[in-house]
Amino acid sequence: MDIITSPETMQQRALAERSEGRRISFVPTMGYLHAGHISLLEEGRKRGDLLVLSIFVNPTQFGQGEDFEDYPRDLQRDAELADEAGVDIIFAPVASAMYPKGYATYVYVENITEGLCGASRPGHFRGVTTVVSKLFNIVQPHVALFGNKDFQQLAVIRRMVLDLNMPIEVVGMPIFREEDGLAMSSRNVYLSAEQRKQALALSQALTTARNLAAVGDLDCAEIISTISEDIAKQPDARIDYIKICHQLTLHEQSAVDQDSVLLLAVYIGKTRLIDNGFLLVP
Ligand code: PAJ
Repeated sequence: MDIITSPETMQQRALAERSEGRRISFVPTMGYLHAGHISLLEEGRKRGDLLVLSIFVNPTQFGQGEDFEDYPRDLQRDAELADEAGVDIIFAPVASAMYPKGYATYVYVENITEGLCGASRPGHFRGVTTVVSKLFNIVQPHVALFGNKDFQQLAVIRRMVLDLNMPIEVVGMPIFREEDGLAMSSRNVYLSAEQRKQALALSQALTTARNLAAVGDLDCAEIISTISEDIAKQPDARIDYIKICHQLTLHEQSAVDQDSVLLLAVYIGKTRLIDNGFLLVP
């Protein structure tokens, strides 16, 4: 496994691999790998000849006062896990190589970036689409894998790839969960033991909402009110948003149908956690 830090070197290698007929699979991450990331790598391994993992804590997607400085980083541990998962190349640039002096170009996707996490984190998706565009240009992938955990992010990236005619297949992967239901996240390390218990309120809310929908309670406002009350019982929980939206447009819905996704963002103490899932599971 190679670790490449220079964008130019990475791009030259990618172009050379492509010219030799190899199919490049790509998993972009911010590192501190967990089993959710590994599931993306395993699928990526199957879908290409050369598996590239990027590790870059992207400063442009963090807002003022967010956790950019504190975001967990451990390249050595990540490299061991990546090697085990069959990664061929880790691309791990430094911020000054990605955003050198004079940097001035951003990619902005309208509409679907404006609600949900976009409303709570102004500028976040502009940072995500900018860095993902740059990473796509550097890594030159045929296929890129993303998790449904970040449901809105995946929708935004699909929109960007379509709108900008990027010749890349985007694959969405299921949310990988701890045994008790908590969606895996690099940010889970911020939780104290007590907060870790309270964090279960997110996945439990999803179960409650699905159970309501399954017995024919399809009124979105009622479902949201029931689960909001449950979450508010956790002493350290503060709801950022709870919404039921159409899976493609991300527009809010009033009644649950086959396209309904429940999306939640909840602070447990200082840690902002997200989760989501379809409400009518076939
Ligand atoms: P990061 O949070 O490191 O996530 C990298 C990829 O792993 C994303 O596609 C995310 O959806 C996926 N992922 C995270 N937790 C998951 C889980 N529990 N199950 C399945 N997949 C999971 O998302 C980012 O980084 C960044 O915004 C990035 C796209 C790399 C741009 O900087």
